[in-house]
Amino acid sequence: MSTLLIKNIGTLQTPVGSYSHRGAEQGENRKLRDAAVYIRDGVITEITDGGDLPLGSESADVVLDANYRLVTPGLVDGHTHMVFGGYRQHEVAMKLKGATYLDILRAGGGILDTVRKTREADEADLCYKTGKFLDEMMNHGVTTCEAKSGYGLDFNSEMKMLEVIGRLNESHAMDVVPTFMGPHAIPEEYKGRPDDFIDMICGEMLPYVKEHKLAEFADIFCEDSVFNYEQSRKYLLRAKELGFGLRIHADEIEAIGGSRLAGELGCVSAEHLISIDEDGLESMAKGGTIAMCLPATSFYLGANYAPARRMIEMGIPVACASDFNPGSCPSMNLQFVMNLACLKYRLLPEEVLTAVTINPACAIGRGDRVGTLEVGKQADLVIWDAPDMEMLCYRFGSNMTARVVKKGKIIK
Ligand code: NIG
Ligand code: FE
Repeated sequence: MSTLLIKNIGTLQTPVGSYSHRGAEQGENRKLRDAAVYIRDGVITEITDGGDLPLGSESADVVLDANYRLVTPGLVDGHTHMVFGGYRQHEVAMKLKGATYLDILRAGGGILDTVRKTREADEADLCYKTGKFLDEMMNHGVTTCEAKSGYGLDFNSEMKMLEVIGRLNESHAMDVVPTFMGPHAIPEEYKGRPDDFIDMICGEMLPYVKEHKLAEFADIFCEDSVFNYEQSRKYLLRAKELGFGLRIHADEIEAIGGSRLAGELGCVSAEHLISIDEDGLESMAKGGTIAMCLPATSFYLGANYAPARRMIEMGIPVACASDFNPGSCPSMNLQFVMNLACLKYRLLPEEVLTAVTINPACAIGRGDRVGTLEVGKQADLVIWDAPDMEMLCYRFGSNMTARVVKKGKIIK
């Protein structure tokens, strides 16, 4: 048995209240002053405030002094494409000269460029590279994340990506939740035959992934020039039948019905939603779908920002994630995402905390274990070099973590 006491917490701020797999009330936070947390074998066993110390504090194996700073739950990054070969820095100049994201993809670059490099990459090399990304994410306060396949697009390469994610979940301190995203783009060998590609995925890949427990969720890129409404529906229905949780990249560039489909099928989350229309919003609200908003992608693409405030008004739970990937968001810094959520989505600091902890935790099926600080939950938390959430939303460009604790172990 090992015990850890965290004492002298100036403010302990955590989402609270009733939440389900459909997320929490946005911005419903509890703030405890002069608090302490007691952790036994990686689980929170007591939280005190007002200067009181938990029972057994004198005999704790390890004591961390928070020095009257802010403590929150560890951040949860609910949307990443962190496993990939190579990088795409050459696209910077192409974009500066006027090429758009879809121009590059249609010309066989973009995602397809990363597909070529990921197919060539050795599994051990991908593990090493992705492990370094996980280190960097944790150093920035993320203690649980999601990771998608989708740069393989053939059977062996997709399974290679999911193996990498599974291995890292085992070997790294980070909890990594796997999502299968075979239909991320139309590979060169299926050019002009997206229906055949979807049929192959539904017939061969999805059942294999399920049988070998390689992913918990299934995702698809529903977009102009990629997969349309019907193809997305067919794929997601097959995934649902097999027992996957569903997500969909929807309305990133064009609103072609992706968010409407998300609500109709009861997707756990819909991603991007920059161009979402009223139909889509209503459908998501009705279907209980969490909006996975990706403001750093809007920033990097120079695009509009998803209508997050409107979503909250309509009762749609909002999560904010990095979308870390080599094309549309080469950053994994969720603190920057928090700044953007404030400045661009106009979310209040309390709402931002919900959006980067419990809501994404619910969206990746981990709301029962992480995303809040409560007795009985996993002891994943961050001591910030800041007195309050306001400071985190205000300072940008610096890493504001002081200490990071994962399952009761001090990582930073
Ligand atoms: O979520 N939009 C589709 N997929 C990724 C980008 C992938 C890439 O450009 O490599 C995203 O932004
Ligand atoms: Fe994405």
